[in-house]
Amino acid sequence: MSSPRFIDRARGPLRGHVTVPGDKSIGHRAVMLNALASGQALVRGLPSGHDVASTMAAMRQLGARIEVAGEGAVRIHGTGLRLEKAPGTIDCQNSGTTMRLLSGVLCAQEGLVATLIGDESLSRRPMKRVAAPLALLGGQIETTDGHAPLHIRGARLRGAEVALPVASAQLKSAVLLAGLQAEGFSEVLEPLATRDHTEKLLTAMGVDVVSQGCRVILRGPAVPRAVDMAVPGDPSSAAFVLVAAVLVAGSDVTVEGLCLNPTRLGFLEVLRRMGARIESRVLEEVGGEPVGSIRCQAGPLRAFHIEEDEVPATIDELPLLAVAAAFAEGESRLSGAAELRVKESDRIATTASLLRAFGVEVEERPDGMVIQGGRPTGGGAVATHADHRIAMSAAVAALAAGAGGVSLDDAGAVDVSFPEFFSVLARLGA
Ligand code: S3P
Repeated sequence: MSSPRFIDRARGPLRGHVTVPGDKSIGHRAVMLNALASGQALVRGLPSGHDVASTMAAMRQLGARIEVAGEGAVRIHGTGLRLEKAPGTIDCQNSGTTMRLLSGVLCAQEGLVATLIGDESLSRRPMKRVAAPLALLGGQIETTDGHAPLHIRGARLRGAEVALPVASAQLKSAVLLAGLQAEGFSEVLEPLATRDHTEKLLTAMGVDVVSQGCRVILRGPAVPRAVDMAVPGDPSSAAFVLVAAVLVAGSDVTVEGLCLNPTRLGFLEVLRRMGARIESRVLEEVGGEPVGSIRCQAGPLRAFHIEEDEVPATIDELPLLAVAAAFAEGESRLSGAAELRVKESDRIATTASLLRAFGVEVEERPDGMVIQGGRPTGGGAVATHADHRIAMSAAVAALAAGAGGVSLDDAGAVDVSFPEFFSVLARLGA
């Protein structure tokens, strides 16, 4: 059911210190890997959004006991890589990470037969890109014209060398999860380095993983050891709050307890180049991940140029950076980002139409866009296309735009990753 919402411009500055929900990427991996591991683990700080809940439901269906142990906390009893052989149909809902990572896990389970399905948006996303590399290890995944439903027949796998055609942490992780259960060495080579949470967590769980630049090697079979962990805050959720602070005059916001893994912080580099006032501090290391705080203050911005080499580290923040560009001085250019077309929505098209709703001049390109910065005005309506990051990007634009506000057709889209989004903004004075 859709929940329309009107978002007015901010009446004053955003100020204060807040936290955001646990990191979605780490959350998926913490649940999946501990459910596959030997032993049991207490995982705290899990995000409450729908995506990680999909992974949790899937792992339960595959035989893992996952007990609620407080808010955002679960105790996971690992299966020691011995999964239910006939789990039936597993619904990954809107979560591409669940579907692709699970593909890697399940195709290595000899004798298992399963079908992975998803919602309308996930059923439109490309899945041959995960079936093909897994086939190099002997994985048997039948797609439906390159899409979900995926029919998986578990088989005994052999390690292999896999060169991925696209820079995608989901694909890299799928191969690593299959390689973990295969016989011998598996090596993944990616065109550009992507987020490395799977490698970090496997290492923390006692699996020998070697990372050298864009190359990752592991030797299977290996059963990871369950580890207690606290999931740090999600920088991709914090980004919305931080960019709102940069754009709304007089704001000064600090987000604490964040994952500060550099593979996730491309948006900070871009904002710094744009002239934003930012301080970030690593305070500790948790489960191999640097954790700390980021403070942003409002100030004028200049245009950006983002090219392909910066895309993996900014991928989820590109719609939001496009919003920042709309408020900056000059013409911003994004290229080499065709991957945006196959996210929860076609994010080049949906970002361009969101910007136009604020009167921004934007030219769509096959692999990016050109945005004329200026003074966006409110008054329009934005379709979220059931895409959480489009909904939050539109809300940030509305807070900073001239009078008129904006109406979102479905603000409930934020529940996929950041159900607390509107309440965190309200706490900061929005
Ligand atoms: C993710 C990887 C990225 C990202 C997604 C989460 C992950 O997708 O966009 O939100 O957790 O591995 P790709 O690997 O397809 O780029």
